[in-house]
Amino acid sequence: MLIAQLSDPHVRPEGMLYQDVVDSNAMLATAIAHLNGLDPRPDVVLLSGDLVDKGEVAEYANLRNLLAKLAMPALVIPGNHDDREAFRRAFADQAYLPRSGPMHYVAGGHGAVRVVALDVTVPGLHHGDADEASMLWLDGALSAEPQRPTILMMHQPPFDCGVPYLDLYHCRNGERLAKVVARHPAVERIVCGHVHRFMQLRFGGTVLCTAPSTTTAIALRLKPDAEPVSHVEPPACLLHHWRPDVGLVTHFSPIGSFPGPYPFA
Ligand SMILES: [Fe+2]
Repeated sequence: MLIAQLSDPHVRPEGMLYQDVVDSNAMLATAIAHLNGLDPRPDVVLLSGDLVDKGEVAEYANLRNLLAKLAMPALVIPGNHDDREAFRRAFADQAYLPRSGPMHYVAGGHGAVRVVALDVTVPGLHHGDADEASMLWLDGALSAEPQRPTILMMHQPPFDCGVPYLDLYHCRNGERLAKVVARHPAVERIVCGHVHRFMQLRFGGTVLCTAPSTTTAIALRLKPDAEPVSHVEPPACLLHHWRPDVGLVTHFSPIGSFPGPYPFA
């Protein structure tokens, strides 16, 4: 089973730029073409939040137009730049999404790996929260199939990464989440967005990784008083490849045209 992950496309209304400088719409279209061109194609595509930039209806309309080109089924969660209710209305035709409350769900019908989506967003705020209600839901969801290899998807990562302006808006109560995950060894990976960079660490007894954005990268600055900025770095996505005799192998897949191919040596 091959599971692609795109994150933080920050789609704008058709014809409008992200932050007035970057064509995030075109960059999502390029990312979708990248996935459609893979052989084998992914079985499912995870979109780990900040699907649009300002939560506007016109942005969601454009997002759905862009996603219509995707050849594979998608599993979406909101991020802090989404508006939960506008998001829900935009994806009202998607039966896997809940009709009210946080957008938690379990998607087990795309292959061997089950995807558990945890909505840690706090409407109106930029940080996330692993609150007690969501942890109860998660513990129940993970308990339903304790042996099934599982990816847990959420938007804000539940740890301090050392980039000071990112850590202001992490998912709070990470220790509570770590305790729940540690009780469920079938969780092969926790996958997040939000930080617009690739990172990985050990968390709750499993491996956690964050996906780059399909648009701008938030600068990697580790000085405690660093100023927040972004760059247009090469965009990328993640490919999580389930191999039953090996485990879940996560690949970092840059999006774009690069020199080569050259003879392998
Ligand atoms: Fe984002």
